[in-house]
Amino acid sequence: MSAWDPAQYLKFADHRLRPALDLLARVPLEAPATVYDLGCGPGNVTTLLTRRWPTARVTGVDSSPAMLEKARAVPGIAWQAADLAAWAPPAPADLVYSNAALHWIDDHVRLFPRLLAQVKSGGVLAVQMPHQAANPSHQSLFAIAREPAWAAKLAGAVFSNPVLEPSQY
Ligand SMILES: C[S@@+](CC[C@H](N)C(=O)[O-])C[C@H]1O[C@@H](n2cnc3c(N)ncnc32)[C@H](O)[C@@H]1O
Repeated sequence: MSAWDPAQYLKFADHRLRPALDLLARVPLEAPATVYDLGCGPGNVTTLLTRRWPTARVTGVDSSPAMLEKARAVPGIAWQAADLAAWAPPAPADLVYSNAALHWIDDHVRLFPRLLAQVKSGGVLAVQMPHQAANPSHQSLFAIAREPAWAAKLAGAVFSNPVLEPSQY
């Protein structure tokens, strides 16, 4: 996968925020003490978690140095560099939240039970993932990227889709 560019990413912050807000609205917790935002990116969604639960200890976790550099400008939140494929908190959390990040990680059959194990009894694992790789929009782009004229330059743009059908979760 190519490097993340926070400036490019935030150009579309408004549209990207909508599923994050929908997900946040569905979390039924009154006052979680410990909250993790997995794949926090530049931290704009993490900020909304602290606004909803001002007394919570909120940590944003991401593997991109560029995204974390942007996020670290946001005060009052702990930021952690980690690969979510292997991430575990020091103790189970009240809320593990992740918007638009876990579709970058393979093997959900193992990943999701492992993440659930990081949540306290009575806590919540809240996840939103786009499920678009099979859509005509993405398949057309992948077909172009595979053409001989582009394959060498764009090999990294063709990605597999680890997201399962809803019933499998
Ligand atoms: C599409 S952005 C989502 C950012 C933020 N959650 C939001 O809703 O705006 C995906 C983020 O996931 C991070 N990410 C992708 N794979 C990761 C991994 N294996 N470990 C940690 N972070 C990862 C990327 O660095 C990127 O910041």
